[in-house]
Amino acid sequence: MKIMIITSSPNVDGLTAACAKGARFGVEAAGAEAVMVNLNRMKIGSCHACGNGWGPCLDTHQCQVNDDFQELHNSMTEMDGFIFISPVYWGDISESARVFFDRVRRCEAWKKDSTLQDRPFIAVAAAGGSGNGVASTLTNVERLLIHLRADRFDLIGITKKTNEYKLKTIIEASKAMVEYMNNK
Ligand SMILES: Cc1cc2nc3c(=O)[nH]c(=O)nc-3n(C[C@H](O)[C@H](O)[C@H](O)COP(=O)(O)O)c2cc1C
Repeated sequence: MKIMIITSSPNVDGLTAACAKGARFGVEAAGAEAVMVNLNRMKIGSCHACGNGWGPCLDTHQCQVNDDFQELHNSMTEMDGFIFISPVYWGDISESARVFFDRVRRCEAWKKDSTLQDRPFIAVAAAGGSGNGVASTLTNVERLLIHLRADRFDLIGITKKTNEYKLKTIIEASKAMVEYMNNK
């Protein structure tokens, strides 16, 4: 079983990275393979809204903008579940997550069997001291993934104040998601 852990922070030693480390630990402890992806290390540009706004991706389910997106998008078909971890920027997911999700949604929303269809996911919003915008960030990710008919397993907010116990929650949630899939 393969779980893709996707992060979208420029910081390699920040809270997002700590969450990814916890998620990986949980996934591997439950006996699954963790496939790590850091969107900030990839070249993924924005959707061009080709044609009249509904580009060829509506029918082909492939993006015409050639960059690192294609390989990542194709590799998602091999995954059994996903853990998305974004820093909270302005009460929303970060820019690298936004451009990635915009393009996945374009390719997958109208596909008969979406790549994410019925695949469980955990979304994590990693915020700073205030924690303002954790709820809106999780709501936005949830809406994107519901469009793709993914199976919400958990939504987790974590801040600098709560990280001690929430990192344990991320480990346990990651383990539990693998166990849930094993029992499906
Ligand atoms: C552009 C920007 C906007 C941010 N907006 C928020 C915010 O709305 N709410 C919040 O609690 N923290 C906010 N933060 C703080 C980050 O969420 C926090 O530092 C988080 O730990 C970043 O993840 P990292 O540790 O992986 O870099 C913002 C940070 C940046 C750089």
